[in-house]
Amino acid sequence: MTLVDVDLETAGNPLVAGLERVPVRSTAIVIFGAMGDLASRKLLPAIYNLAHEGGLPERIALIGISRGKLTDEDFRERARESIDRFSRRRPDPDVLDGLLANMQYLSGPFDDEGLYARLGDALTALDAGYGMPLNRVFYLSTAPEFFPVITGRLGEVGLNEAEDAEVRAVIEKPIGYDLASAQAQNAAVLEYFDESQVFRIDHYLGKETVQNLMALRFANALFEPVWNRNFIEHVQITAAEDIGVGTRAGYYEGAGALRDLVQNHMLQLLALLTMEPPTAFEANRLRDEKVKVLEAISPPALDEVADMAVRAQYGPGVVSGSESAGYREEPGVSPDSRTETYAALRLYVNNWRWAGVPFFLRTGKRMTRKLTEIAVTLRPVPHMAFQGADSAGVKPNQIILTLQPDEAVTVSLGAKVPGTKMQIRPVNMEFHYGTAFVSESPEAYERLILDAMRGDATLFTRNDEVEALWRIIDPILAAWASDTTTPIPQYPAGSAGPVEAEALLDGRSWRRL
Ligand code: BG6
Repeated sequence: MTLVDVDLETAGNPLVAGLERVPVRSTAIVIFGAMGDLASRKLLPAIYNLAHEGGLPERIALIGISRGKLTDEDFRERARESIDRFSRRRPDPDVLDGLLANMQYLSGPFDDEGLYARLGDALTALDAGYGMPLNRVFYLSTAPEFFPVITGRLGEVGLNEAEDAEVRAVIEKPIGYDLASAQAQNAAVLEYFDESQVFRIDHYLGKETVQNLMALRFANALFEPVWNRNFIEHVQITAAEDIGVGTRAGYYEGAGALRDLVQNHMLQLLALLTMEPPTAFEANRLRDEKVKVLEAISPPALDEVADMAVRAQYGPGVVSGSESAGYREEPGVSPDSRTETYAALRLYVNNWRWAGVPFFLRTGKRMTRKLTEIAVTLRPVPHMAFQGADSAGVKPNQIILTLQPDEAVTVSLGAKVPGTKMQIRPVNMEFHYGTAFVSESPEAYERLILDAMRGDATLFTRNDEVEALWRIIDPILAAWASDTTTPIPQYPAGSAGPVEAEALLDGRSWRRL
């Protein structure tokens, strides 16, 4: 498939034009949890890559905060190591040195009032040094119990606002562990920060291919006429991973697959796939549409959960040719753990567009391979004109969005096999990111950090959206928590998941991994 470059601005597409034109004001980024895994693997490398591309403002400062006692120099050295190791491109020494020179470090417990006094002094000194008030982005890359502590302390010392500058708080997931705790957390954060200042991250929204889902739907007239119950028979959304729980058992044991991936990333994909077209690609208009569609997904009653949700755990098996332990044998996991590493759901979106169309979601760790995809299966042709053997290869059309690892859009079509017979089989029309666009995609965090600095909340989750997401998941969590005796289905590590998940599909099959 050949793509012709079109100037989006001259094409006047209201959904995409203008996105890149919002300038980034001079900013001080403050990372709470600066020595943590996320900061070193993702945030610091993302900030470096923004610097590399000239995406950062000329006046930029970064303050790392964590409990460890380090000097500024130690912190810069650690930041250099993280960037060297995890940056998607090899660092340019001049750009890196320039960035590191603007970094400093503060140590202290997150509830320590003295820390916030020192932070206030450091920010004031930066403003004075640059001769102008910098915008402030507080990035909360900490355990969730610290979110209200940090926003509370910032508020108490007045750092939740600044004269002639914007103040924003970026909050990582998880936002709560159920609806009630998410509401409590939102309320605590919003005590000092206005919703317009809060940027809740779901890194899937920063992925190029997830944004492409919106481009596909709303920059093409081709899909909209079939994007409804009249043409679509069912949808499968898969987020399979080959990795296990790794060193994260401490977090994962209390979370499980439903909270870790379904409540946020997978339901976000479902919302973007099913929402009505927003009138503009603008934060509140887009999020209004997402909330509306999420509210159209009725949460199951407790006694319906067994029929629409399946949980399972990986047992021992072979992944990519190597023996792999079962979940209950992993370090830090209880030998009788009931935490699910796999979850599959059947959901319905109860509105005019989607009534009666089943949406099947599945996610699991230690599955056959890493694959994130959305497969939309259309209804069969209304009348089969090809008779007998001629019709054997006629299959319903599918539109498949592969989000990772091999980013692509595929449309399957029935085509005639060359020869003297009328023989039909499915063929694929494909667009692969890797070959269509020569430039490498930025990491999700690059886009999201830049957007937070610009104050563009389009790709962040609003508080009512977080709560709508939990409303769908809460009864499933409650039903699973209340059943403490039924054995949790097991699937071998390296497999496509438990056989029990087949029953959800009402005679259909899960797509091959
Ligand atoms: C995170 C989850 O949010 O997403 C992890 O906590 C999961 O458990 C990860 O591995 C998957 O993200 P990605 O970008 O690799 O699909």
